[in-house]
Amino acid sequence: VSFEVAEFRKKFPQLQVQLQGQSLVYFDNGASTLKHQDAIARVHQYDRFEVSNVHRGAHSLSRKGTESFESARSQVREFLGAKDDQEIIFTRGTTESINLVAHSMSSMFQAGDEIVLSPFEHHSNIVPWQELCRRTGSVLKVLPYSKNISEYVTSLEKTLSPKTRLVSFLHFSNSLGHRMPVEKMVQICKSQGVMTLIDGAQALLTEKVRVSDLGCDFYCFSGHKVFAPYGIGILYGRHEILQTLPPYQTGGSMIDRVTFAETSYADLPQKFEAGTPNISGALGLAAALKVIETDGVENYHKHVHHLRQELITALQEFPGCELYLCEAEDYCGVVSFNLKGAHPSDVGTLLDKYGVAVRAGHHCTQPLMDTLQVPGTVRVSLAPYNTQDEINYFLNTLSKVKEFF
Ligand SMILES: Cc1ncc(COP(=O)(O)O)c(C=O)c1O
Repeated sequence: VSFEVAEFRKKFPQLQVQLQGQSLVYFDNGASTLKHQDAIARVHQYDRFEVSNVHRGAHSLSRKGTESFESARSQVREFLGAKDDQEIIFTRGTTESINLVAHSMSSMFQAGDEIVLSPFEHHSNIVPWQELCRRTGSVLKVLPYSKNISEYVTSLEKTLSPKTRLVSFLHFSNSLGHRMPVEKMVQICKSQGVMTLIDGAQALLTEKVRVSDLGCDFYCFSGHKVFAPYGIGILYGRHEILQTLPPYQTGGSMIDRVTFAETSYADLPQKFEAGTPNISGALGLAAALKVIETDGVENYHKHVHHLRQELITALQEFPGCELYLCEAEDYCGVVSFNLKGAHPSDVGTLLDKYGVAVRAGHHCTQPLMDTLQVPGTVRVSLAPYNTQDEINYFLNTLSKVKEFF
């Protein structure tokens, strides 16, 4: 399948919107991508004509809703290459997925147990583990920082100890864009009986993710970063582990039998889905994943990788521009930089005046910013609908912005 950017752009209504009297140049895809018309349409279809709660009604609409919801789950399972539908839990997003694991796992951790993170982690893959440590007396360890990403394989080997229970790391960095050597890291952990969680929030538009190939115990991502609605995300968990974990939240839908004296829980995956789920969101997510599958993520990656290279080459020659790059085997569409003498927020605000949306700040990775000794960066994060013309416009605009400092 060849990938036509001009055609692809037509599928995103927000790209037709004028901002400050000009076309939107949306370079903040790492925060949220724009929404694909198929995902929007599926949500509308449900909300307009198909509304009914799932897993409970005796009426036909509810049965149909349940079928749609469960077939969305099957689609996610196929997309991720998971073994069975029971391994796919609908959550609100990556943050909730990680919190679910960290809460449910607390009872498996003891004082002195160790959890290992990479230095690139998003706050959502730091704070839940800090809280687990506070509750259990476990200890958080962080791999030493290096720009050479292949070094994380050896540093992980050195850091693991008989007390390490879990290693949690991102697949692609939302701040610097690089890919972690996830396969090798999982392999090392597996060989030592250590559990692994991969934060895939930035991965699904860059490569075909197969949890069966990765071999990780948990994998999570958010719908709003893959053309889908807000408030829906996925936790993949290995069946054998999920089965042993207690529920995260309790209430309706996750029970087998309730009396005032005691409660028995439903089987997977319902055990982890208390309350009414985001039904239309799940259907929107499934529609977005279908788009990705049909287009071919390798086509997205080829296009974005080319744009990223063009941008980096230009920024390397841009006077006073400091780029934050790593040496890695692959990258998503993220490029981080600063302009000498300029606070990243000021650069972001000025770019916005010209209709360019970027992110400026710490990108929810304050510990990484501390390591880099910067208050934050300006982050361009590209998606497959971005174009060379937009890169050119951005570079021209940045030259104008630079004049302010
Ligand atoms: C690498 C990474 N992890 C986790 C998250 C948190 O995702 P969410 O806010 O959708 O829960 C993000 C979002 O910025 C991210 O980029």
